[in-house]
Amino acid sequence: MADPCPCPKAHEDIVAEIIRVNDELSQLKDLDAILDRILTRVRKVTKADAGTIYLVKEGKLHFSYVHNDTLFSTAVNKEVYGNFAMPINDTSIVGYVAGHGELLAIDDAYDMPSDSPVRFNPAFDQKTGYRTRSILTIPIKTSQNKVVGVIQVINAKDDTGASVPFSDEAKQYLPLFATTASVAIERAIMTRELILRMMQMAELRDPSETGAHVQRVGAYSAEIYHLWAQRKGVPEDDLKKTKDLIRIAAMLHDVGKVGISDKILKKPAKLTDEEFATMRFHTVFGAKLFNNATSELDALSGEIALCHHEKWNGKGYPGSVKNMDIHAKSAGKPMQGEDIPIAARICALADVFDALSSRRSYKPPWPDEKIIAVIKEESGQHFDPDVVDCFLDIWDVISAIRAKYTEDLPVDEQPITDNSKAPEGKQTPSDPPST
Ligand code: C2E
Ligand code: SIN
Ligand code: SIN
Ligand code: FE
Ligand code: FE
Repeated sequence: MADPCPCPKAHEDIVAEIIRVNDELSQLKDLDAILDRILTRVRKVTKADAGTIYLVKEGKLHFSYVHNDTLFSTAVNKEVYGNFAMPINDTSIVGYVAGHGELLAIDDAYDMPSDSPVRFNPAFDQKTGYRTRSILTIPIKTSQNKVVGVIQVINAKDDTGASVPFSDEAKQYLPLFATTASVAIERAIMTRELILRMMQMAELRDPSETGAHVQRVGAYSAEIYHLWAQRKGVPEDDLKKTKDLIRIAAMLHDVGKVGISDKILKKPAKLTDEEFATMRFHTVFGAKLFNNATSELDALSGEIALCHHEKWNGKGYPGSVKNMDIHAKSAGKPMQGEDIPIAARICALADVFDALSSRRSYKPPWPDEKIIAVIKEESGQHFDPDVVDCFLDIWDVISAIRAKYTEDLPVDEQPITDNSKAPEGKQTPSDPPST
């Protein structure tokens, strides 16, 4: 059968091959899910109330993940998207531990020995009302002794819930665990880099664009799913597993744009009807890459690629457009409502929100008020109303994600802006460093 829109074969083959780096992919775990798992495990073993992971990037310690049972008990929270970095030197506890490659245990942050090599910074406690007492900070070292990050756990609890010093057992176990963790962390970092490179080939043929959009759509989708799944009573283990897969699969939603020519993709103006008809094929091109799904991730990525422009009211594509069934088995059937896989219903909203709030070659960014108004108007039309409700209910998290993944400026130069005008007067992202 004739290909109605021939794609550049070479590109597509390279992408297909990368996608099939087979058992790599079936084992694939996204970085946030790995960090979440590591913190869960470390906090359980040490009975710690809170914990933070920093990862070394470009000579600095970047805040990368956090748990705090006392301050934020809700599962979907903006704090994990905090965006700041610490120097690797003796001006902070984490900087000291990374710089010296040694564990540091503090029994009481407010009563430290006078010969302590580093001081506790109470700024975080002052701002949040949290009371830090015991702190255990360990370097995350690879088997080659390279420091790739730092894990800090705070406030070990005894059986009554009182804060106590960390045990000797914890101090012995954690460094070993951290080395095991370093393998998973390095692998997850490579996975994310692989995905970003793939999307770069597919779409970022314009050097002024970056992978930030891809990471935002992945993160928005993961967090919307988290709340949606909680509301639907999805068990915690399934929820976390699917959340991880959705984050990755949503990053790949537009991988089919690899088949669209630069002339159309980069057109700095409105597309003609004919150009838009071609553009619609990015959905089936994307799905085709995952046709022989061998893993859950492949299957989910295929669903999202194919269905992220379907609409709740049945008027999206490729479903309601004739002659679009050439490349993908399930394309070309009208789809509406819950026929559309949930991951695609979620990614549809995440993608449109991000497109409207970003500059595109064909449009300026829209103000939040206008975006929110359109999304509310389209609830029950373009979008699944339950998904819209979840999105609006985590506006603070959405804002934190947007502030974190900006267009890849070095972190120092990123405006840490307070740009969250909440639809219902909710709070804003980004908290300051703790220690
Ligand atoms: P994209 O830029 O990632 O946009 C994703 C979706 O966001 C669009 O899907 C659309 O539903 C929504 N969206 C983006 N910009 C606007 C807007 O200005 N107004 C409204 N109401 N919605 C908007 P859609 O329309 O199916 O487009 C799919 C892709 O096709 C877009 O992805 C973009 O790559 C391309 N595209 C669409 N329209 C144009 C255009 O006028 N010029 C160019 N150069 N590309 C376009
Ligand atoms: C979580 O459920 O918070 C961990 C999974 C993730 O963040 O991707
Ligand atoms: C990007 O990485 O900028 C492209 C993804 C998209 O436009 O949806
Ligand atoms: Fe798309
Ligand atoms: Fe997109």
